[in-house]
Amino acid sequence: MLFHLTNPNTSPAPNTTTMTHKPTVVTCGLPYTNGLCHLGHLRTYIPGDFYVRYLRWLGDDIVFVCGSDNHGTPIIVTAETEHTTPRAVSEYFHAHFDEVFKDMGINFDRFGMTDDPTTHHRTTTIIESLIEKDYIYEKTIQQSYCPSCKRFLPDRYVEGICPYCGKHARGDECDQGCGRHLEPGEILNSVCTTCGTQAELREQKHYYFKLSKFRDYLLEYLPTLDGTINARNYAIGWVENELKDWCITRMMDWGVAFPGKDAKGLVTYVWVDAPIGYIAFTEEWANTTGNSWQKYWCNGDRVHFIGSDIIYHHCVFLPAMLHGAGYQPPSAVVASGMVTIDGQKFSKSRGYVIWTKEDYLDKGLPADYLRYYLLAYTNHTRELDFSWKEFQARINNELVNTFGNFANRSMMLVKTKLREVPEVAVKQEILDEITKTLCLVEKLVRTFEFKAAIDEILLLAGYGNSYISNTAPWKMIKEDPYAAAQVLKNCLQIVKASALLIHPAMPKSAQKLWEMLGYTDKIEDHPIGDALVPFENKTLGEVRPLFARIDDEQREDLEATLARRAVETQNKTTGKDTMEAEIDPFLENIVTIDDVAKLDLRVGLVIKAERVPKTEKLLRLQVDIGKEVRQIISGIALNYTPEEMIGKKIVVIVNLKPTKFRGEESNGMLFAAGEHAASLLIPLRDVVPGTRVH
Ligand code: 2FM
Ligand code: ZN
Repeated sequence: MLFHLTNPNTSPAPNTTTMTHKPTVVTCGLPYTNGLCHLGHLRTYIPGDFYVRYLRWLGDDIVFVCGSDNHGTPIIVTAETEHTTPRAVSEYFHAHFDEVFKDMGINFDRFGMTDDPTTHHRTTTIIESLIEKDYIYEKTIQQSYCPSCKRFLPDRYVEGICPYCGKHARGDECDQGCGRHLEPGEILNSVCTTCGTQAELREQKHYYFKLSKFRDYLLEYLPTLDGTINARNYAIGWVENELKDWCITRMMDWGVAFPGKDAKGLVTYVWVDAPIGYIAFTEEWANTTGNSWQKYWCNGDRVHFIGSDIIYHHCVFLPAMLHGAGYQPPSAVVASGMVTIDGQKFSKSRGYVIWTKEDYLDKGLPADYLRYYLLAYTNHTRELDFSWKEFQARINNELVNTFGNFANRSMMLVKTKLREVPEVAVKQEILDEITKTLCLVEKLVRTFEFKAAIDEILLLAGYGNSYISNTAPWKMIKEDPYAAAQVLKNCLQIVKASALLIHPAMPKSAQKLWEMLGYTDKIEDHPIGDALVPFENKTLGEVRPLFARIDDEQREDLEATLARRAVETQNKTTGKDTMEAEIDPFLENIVTIDDVAKLDLRVGLVIKAERVPKTEKLLRLQVDIGKEVRQIISGIALNYTPEEMIGKKIVVIVNLKPTKFRGEESNGMLFAAGEHAASLLIPLRDVVPGTRVH
């Protein structure tokens, strides 16, 4: 039993949780500060935020932290390109992510920066503890070096071939092949990414973490790791297979200085300090709010939301490092499947990307729609193939037609047929249906089955829709007003429960609905038990449509932006500048079916044709368009003689505003392909004049 029910008709807000849950820190993977927030990022953050909001609604003690990942070579590379400092680059993108997350309703208790002193301090403390426990050793290795740039090439400064699968890879990660983490010096045929010179190998002293020593620990720990099955299983497979020691230093001056006097010039590898940021951000939150971070990190649960590309780092590196230093490892790792767009791999370099701000929020699209779509589209661990078409269909069918329609119908009927909310008790069968949904959804959220949870909430609205359609209170009201009032009161109870249930997924829309129901406070302040407290308001607020449809024109505009970006990006990478970029002409001036429908095209029979005097190109045509004969002046005289034109059946636009050429009125326009050697468009089969062209 997940939550406990008291008599809903007597209790104001039952205390719903019988099972106590530990204080929990929930984290989301930290975005690198070298690019903008795109839709792929949100696949992790929105489910994370939904999970936190839902569990808080259930009464759990949760702190939700995240921050930006500031170290690592990509940020130095960006800073070099922009002629600025890595800190300045980090601050710029940090502010961007912070703003976008807030706009998307992703409410972290703390959104910190790994370059801030708390992460530096916590990282140093953990490394010192690992050194003290003899988990770190020094080793001289062969590291890629660029003879032309005269520097060592850590991580993204070098590209080459993955020694495991033979695919093109980055210095520290086989991003296009097997996905493995690559140790310094492992990559083959390495080339400097700055200047393209073939790299050489040179000796360099580094520090290694004895990851191989943690094999037994990890094999015992991983089967107990909660979260999604993909994270656990991949990690067990990797650990069973091989576990090499891990190089945790880099020769550069951006990052957390590696402790120890012998480590001059070395900083800690970004994948050490980034997840330590999770602890540091909790400390920062605790310090400013007077809470204890240890409550969560030493005694509570730690739930990490990540993308499936970083399972290794969270299920192998992180637990080993934390365990080695005497900290608690993750309790759950929730790994989302990757995002594709229209079946294509998400790729910033190919322009296959949807930017959250520019392509979504700035277009006025509601954050809640994307939140809903990303949660409801598919199982959390599966690949999510985004398309604007599917997005439009989901919003229109599920939010507008099901959820919004039920809520609106119920409230409007109360307003128009009853004026006041009837004072009848809600039927037990309705409360039972809500109870069933509450139990199921809690179970699904706690087991990270977010899509199934949303489906259940929508099913409750669907149940309400069928109930109102089958009982038809608008008809019933004439013969049995009491029965109609009973039905509508039941419906209001379902609307209230649905608003409460959906608020962790769509906070703004739920609040809007809450106010339509006549409440003046915040929906999120109401505990779960309130879904079963009989609807108490005497009057409703102002009732408006809850969701707006996405029309075809809007969808086509969104599709065109995506297609145009892909072409522009590809032209940029092939050296063409934007001015001369080959923008697909078909995408330049997109029109909709409605635009096309405005054109009245007909088959016309040319019954008379003559040259317009003193002109070279113009013919004066008399064209029978069925119900009348029109004069059309056409610039086709260089291609067709008057004699050739007579008797031809051509395609004519007949609702064009009349105009004049050389003083001659023209009342329509004909169609021909090409300019210099224009070829008339004529129907292949015989059709009568006036036939509509579709
Ligand atoms: O892959 C990434 O985008 C990393 N910046 C994620 C870091 S998550 C954590 F470990 F800090
Ligand atoms: Zn590989």
